[in-house]
Amino acid sequence: MASDQHNGRTTPHGTDGSADGGTGAVPGAAARRDLAVRAAVAQGLISEAEPVIALLDVAGIRASAAALRTAFDEVTAPGTAVLHAFAVKAAPLVAVVRLLGEQGIGAEVASPGELALARAAGVRPEHTVLDSPAKTTAELREALALGIAVNADNPQELARIDALIGSGPGPGSGPGSGPGPGPVSGPVSSPLGLRINAQVGGGSIGALSTATATSKFGIALRDEGARAWVVQAYLDRPWLTRLHTHSGSQGVPLERMAEGVRTVYELAEEINAAAGRRQIDTLDIGGGLPVNFTSDEETPTYAAYARLLRETVPGLLDGRYGLVTEFGRSLLAKHGTVLTRVEYAKSAGGRPIAVTHAGAQVATRTVYDPASWPLRIAAYDAGGRPKTGPAVAQDIAGPACFAGDLLAENRPVPLLEQGDLVAALDTGAYYFSNHYAYNSLARPGVFGFVAAPGAAGGGVRFATVRAAQTVAEIVGESGGGHADALLLDD
Ligand SMILES: Cc1ncc(COP(=O)(O)O)c(C=O)c1O
Repeated sequence: MASDQHNGRTTPHGTDGSADGGTGAVPGAAARRDLAVRAAVAQGLISEAEPVIALLDVAGIRASAAALRTAFDEVTAPGTAVLHAFAVKAAPLVAVVRLLGEQGIGAEVASPGELALARAAGVRPEHTVLDSPAKTTAELREALALGIAVNADNPQELARIDALIGSGPGPGSGPGSGPGPGPVSGPVSSPLGLRINAQVGGGSIGALSTATATSKFGIALRDEGARAWVVQAYLDRPWLTRLHTHSGSQGVPLERMAEGVRTVYELAEEINAAAGRRQIDTLDIGGGLPVNFTSDEETPTYAAYARLLRETVPGLLDGRYGLVTEFGRSLLAKHGTVLTRVEYAKSAGGRPIAVTHAGAQVATRTVYDPASWPLRIAAYDAGGRPKTGPAVAQDIAGPACFAGDLLAENRPVPLLEQGDLVAALDTGAYYFSNHYAYNSLARPGVFGFVAAPGAAGGGVRFATVRAAQTVAEIVGESGGGHADALLLDD
């Protein structure tokens, strides 16, 4: 679909063009967003008191979850066990995880907080995978006691698992291994595996390239002696039944991701041949499907990636292996919008500047690395109607006290005036849900919405996903209860 990237608007044709195209049809994503912005004003969600909010399009999230399931259903042999585990880091919001759970999607967690959040959302242990690179013994113990799948990152972590399950080749099995604390009480049902760095190379965003030669994640398979060590580790531990890889996120070409998956598949085949049985029964292929941040088009699709996997690694999908996926950004990004008021419209050196309430706290990656993370900006008037008029290059600034706090620089959109609204599009993953507390700026409220043209409330129903952080909470979280803590005698 064609788009006017600068104003963040999709050219009005197809289902995205108008609220219902005059036909009563289900509105497309851009039209739903426009309806939601208008209704957020009408219903007072965005206001002087709450000058920045975040919106989540429930229909869009459901559609992405369905597309993911369908894509892998179409390429896997009938009866293949497939767990799609949402990478909670992408949108750590309980209601989001619950919504995805309703769609049959589990949770990939990488910290005690993410695990607690997935549990609060009702995700069952058998639908949960723990992957963090720095798990403490206590975290491992909890995961094993719960029966959650664990992918060990390195030999030292595997040695801890040996100790916790009371089974393994014992101290000396891997570099740095040693006797740990006592075993977990009771039988351990957690599926266990190792994370592999296939070292297939990075993508256009270094910070998100997990399969470089020196990446901190997993066991670097091409390093000297590593492959033999991994094979032996499996032969020594009949209970190791999985292999895991995540070859990168945004910016990594699909072909490279598929290459990483093929590397791990070939390793599984080698281990199973050496074991003389199908010891590895499940491959966890991670997430990483990139998101199109330039238009409303959702590309690449899950279907395209699934087909590429079928071409690149046919054996992965022929029914001999169960599959785990860990997509994050691609499930949520397109369905989130940051909406903020223009507090002031000014000018400096001939450049118009719209000063808003959305900056580094809700768009951290964009502010600190704008070249890698440009965001589409859509302009609305104070009533929430799309702004028209000639595009004027202007800065969209945030509220934080540093010069680089810009959502967009020199961006042509209709000239913004005081009281107008600005929407930062495609921010459903790793943006407002991953707040950055600079300047003690409050976490904004997050509201899910469903659009039903013709219904009351401007055709939109909202539900609070997360209330805005209050200043009292900011004080409390900043040590307000310990105000005298440093008044120590010398
Ligand atoms: C182990 C693992 N799995 C899945 C993901 C999700 O990646 P994405 O959001 O790009 O799909 C990440 C992201 O950092 C990850 O580290």
